[in-house]
Amino acid sequence: MLSERELESCYLGQFIPVHYHHNMLTDTNRMHSFRAAIAHVVRPGMKVLELGGGTGALSFFAAQRADKVYCVDFNPDMVREARRFLALNRCADKVEVIHADAFEYLPPEPVDVVICEMLHVAMLREKQVDVIEHFKRRYLQKFGGQLPVFLPEAVLMAAQPMQHEYDFDGFYAPIVQFQQPGTAQPGTLELSQPAVYSVIDFTQPNDSSYSWEGKFVIDRDGTVNAIRFITKTILSVVQERATTIDWLNHFMSLPLEQPVDAKAGDVLQVAFAYRAGGSIPSLQARLTARLLYQAALQPQVVAYA
Ligand SMILES: C[S@@+](CC[C@H](N)C(=O)[O-])C[C@H]1O[C@@H](n2cnc3c(N)ncnc32)[C@H](O)[C@@H]1O
Repeated sequence: MLSERELESCYLGQFIPVHYHHNMLTDTNRMHSFRAAIAHVVRPGMKVLELGGGTGALSFFAAQRADKVYCVDFNPDMVREARRFLALNRCADKVEVIHADAFEYLPPEPVDVVICEMLHVAMLREKQVDVIEHFKRRYLQKFGGQLPVFLPEAVLMAAQPMQHEYDFDGFYAPIVQFQQPGTAQPGTLELSQPAVYSVIDFTQPNDSSYSWEGKFVIDRDGTVNAIRFITKTILSVVQERATTIDWLNHFMSLPLEQPVDAKAGDVLQVAFAYRAGGSIPSLQARLTARLLYQAALQPQVVAYA
């Protein structure tokens, strides 16, 4: 019998089924970026902790350089699979796979780097923010001194007014959708530039609730029928080259209950509120858009030379 916490966890994606991990392994954007960032941050002799290790892929990357990797997962199926895969990759000796809740686990010794990929678009569903905040408090209580380096280091989150077609062979269904950045997206129009609504820096204390009200100038005529959520993860800052190693997560578009017809030059106000780790419907329920300013209704301004 599952406890209430475990039931909520199932619903909110903490028990990601094994077959979904295949999608994560084949997401080359994600894998290449993490591999590059881990190769940059982890140095020979280091000790690494991975919270939410899944198949063990990121722990495997870390084990290419580290002396020791603690790989923690809450899902017993993934613990079994990670042990099996890591043995096949001949690094089972360096990586210790531990069945534990990341909200409770602390390594037996201080670590240099903490890797955590519990990242969903807009920081919904998965528990990255809360897990890292809990971890920092408990780690300092146990070991004092300095915190480890976190990978990822930071997250930028933005919103963007969109027009989506929602026509599926003649069937109209305004539905939540995910899109791979950088791919052709027929039926999708960006009606304004994105605006950043939050920056998370994992080295600092972070609040897990977001409440935002922002204005967008509409670039082209259309119907704003969805808000796209964009999440860019800064996996690592490469100081010597003044650059960062990033991972741009899939875009997530949430349909608006009340679409808004807008013309170029109009000003749209968008408001929403939600908690990190909350459900997608919890954000949808508090997502609104309305026109603040209609360019066509304003008196003409005549410029005299
Ligand atoms: C998005 S997957 C990432 C898996 C792997 N790190 C990778 O990048 O391929 C997140 C993992 O975190 C695990 N997880 C979620 N909540 C957890 C918790 N409270 N404690 C430990 N692991 C957790 C899930 O079981 C899942 O394997």
